Amino acid sequence: MALNSEKPKDSNSQHISKFTASEKNYSTKEKTIIKKYCSSCHGSKGEGIANLAPPLKGSEWVVHPKPSIPVSILLHGMSGPISVNGRDYNFNGPMPGLKDNMSINDGTIAKILTFIRNAWGQ
Ligand code: HEC
Repeated sequence: MALNSEKPKDSNSQHISKFTASEKNYSTKEKTIIKKYCSSCHGSKGEGIANLAPPLKGSEWVVHPKPSIPVSILLHGMSGPISVNGRDYNFNGPMPGLKDNMSINDGTIAKILTFIRNAWGQ
């Protein structure tokens, strides 16, 4: 009983229900893309993997007020020390950009960004 009142109001399922009807149509496709291109480093729930990549969940980079910043990270990748969610990281390997991957075009990158913002943004 007492636990029920502790239940977070803003649960993940409510985040996902924020998708519009058209976003729901492509979310399954984007989930597959994210699994293929991102989850091996960032984890299947965007939680990050030690020594490989920082979390996407709750990351200020994902919900950056200038969408061109996360778009540029996705396109060109990045390297060097980075602070995410109040934690400093320094990874050995860089984040690879998607720009050389011909099967991923700009439209898909925008959809990936919309998806990770809806699923894991705060
Ligand atoms: C080979 C591993 C790898 C893959 C695959 C990868 N990333 Fe990354 N990503 C990294 C690393 C490492 C960093 C941190 C880079 C640094 O240290 O500057 C990073 C940083 C980021 C950041 C900024 C920091 C943060 O945690 O918010 C975003 C956003 C991001 N990646 C999104 C993605 C998305 C979306 C995909 C899939 C399209 C992806 N990444 C695929 C390794 C990877």
